[in-house]
Amino acid sequence: MSDTKCKSRDESGVVVTITEEWHVGKSQRAVKMLALSIGLSQVSIYSLATSVSELANNLFFHTNYGGTITLKVVRKNGRAGIEIAAADKGPGIADLDSAMLDSFTTNGGLGGGLPGVERLMDEFEIASQVGVGTWVVARKWGKCS
Ligand SMILES: Nc1ncnc2c1ncn2[C@@H]1O[C@H](COP(=O)(O)OP(=O)(O)O)[C@@H](O)[C@H]1O
Ligand SMILES: [Mg+2]
Repeated sequence: MSDTKCKSRDESGVVVTITEEWHVGKSQRAVKMLALSIGLSQVSIYSLATSVSELANNLFFHTNYGGTITLKVVRKNGRAGIEIAAADKGPGIADLDSAMLDSFTTNGGLGGGLPGVERLMDEFEIASQVGVGTWVVARKWGKCS
């Protein structure tokens, strides 16, 4: 199948800065539009919208100055997908293994955000250093149509 067939009109990606609560909704709208542009299924779009909302919420609730959500179309083996990258220069996470457990929270949240994103997305990576910041990248793949 030709790769040009699943080309998106917007290959450059979108950066949403998360410093206020309403920016969470902005990141959800942006990921939905990007996912629609490459024809992802409704189920995948809901997974992406939930994942970006959890990551953006973490930027807002667990850092002092917020961070960025970068959204882009990615391609591999003739498939198109959406990549969500969350980055911040916040306090970092001291114990990543604990942070990835269901119900683990340090500020009274549900504690389902990070493990939920890992389950909803096809690929998930997280890195964090105390005093430096946190970086998460997650991808959802669709089919070329
Ligand atoms: N960007 C971040 N910076 C610092 N700590 C974070 C960040 N994201 C998550 N954490 C830590 O990981 C924990 C688990 O996150 P999460 O699963 O989203 O649950 P919740 O946000 O409900 O606490 C948080 O309570 C917090 O301690
Ligand atoms: Mg959270």
